[in-house]
Amino acid sequence: MSQSIIRTENLIFRYTTEEGVAPTVLDGINLSIEPGSFVAILGHNGSGKSTLAKHFNAILLPSEGKVYVGGLDTADEDHLLDIRRQVGMVFQNPDNQIVASVVEEDVAFAPENLGVPSPEIRRRVDDALRTVGMAEYARHAPHLLSGGQKQRVAIAGVLAMEPACIVLDESTAMLDPVGRREVLSTVKKLNREKGITVVLITHHMDEAAQADRLVVMHDGHIVHDGPPAQIFQDVEGLRALGLEVPESVALMHELRKNGVDVPLDTLDVDSCAAALGKLLS
Ligand SMILES: Nc1ncnc2c1ncn2[C@@H]1O[C@H](COP(=O)(O)OP(=O)(O)OP(=O)(O)O)[C@@H](O)[C@H]1O
Ligand SMILES: [Mg+2]
Repeated sequence: MSQSIIRTENLIFRYTTEEGVAPTVLDGINLSIEPGSFVAILGHNGSGKSTLAKHFNAILLPSEGKVYVGGLDTADEDHLLDIRRQVGMVFQNPDNQIVASVVEEDVAFAPENLGVPSPEIRRRVDDALRTVGMAEYARHAPHLLSGGQKQRVAIAGVLAMEPACIVLDESTAMLDPVGRREVLSTVKKLNREKGITVVLITHHMDEAAQADRLVVMHDGHIVHDGPPAQIFQDVEGLRALGLEVPESVALMHELRKNGVDVPLDTLDVDSCAAALGKLLS
């Protein structure tokens, strides 16, 4: 079996606050993420998703337990650069992630700081902008782009590091439906075509439904871990955790409550329509 790109072992985390006494925010997380997988993380506000994500590239270090990135212990400072190169993060607010006044300079920022030679930077920037479909905006001013375009530039900036894994923490939350679709299709392309591991934190069930694997958090614990089609069948269980299911599943759930025999694994509109069509024919 190949080595996990990210592995946590009994990860426990408490923030240190001015009051000192900090409650436990991550309470014994054991999670292995395999190279090339597409994992979505769901959970209500404050369940610990962002805190967990920040352990994936050593922004935070465990209070107890271990986190390994590509086999490297994140608590070992000697590995910090290597870990940051392997796992890139994209955050919620696109405006906070722009550092330069021209798109291509923004994308070149991280590899420049790592001392990558100039011709190599040129190649990586061009590649990354092409991959996210922003090549024709290379000389544009980032602040004039749409939210979805800004997030794609932020993703290009991470890609220029040639990471094994990208972690997106609610990176579509501030976008309109078009921007959300742009970002999600970009992320899926990176996963399918380039084999980059994707960890997607989201409150949008239709996005989570597109992952290979769903991890559900609740109060610092992992309470579900499996394929979306399986986990979303437990509609009432998820609602009890303050979560919804994709609308295409919620509809089928209502029909079933009314005695209509339909499946519950209809993760998208197409499969929902197909199941209803079969019922009517
Ligand atoms: N810097 C901090 N200092 C102290 N406590 C914090 C800090 N950041 C987060 N917390 C607390 O840790 C817990 C988990 O927060 P976290 O941001 O990881 O949750 P989340 O699942 O990402 O929530 P959301 O869906 O709102 O983004 C919450 O109780 C939160 O108040
Ligand atoms: Mg969060």
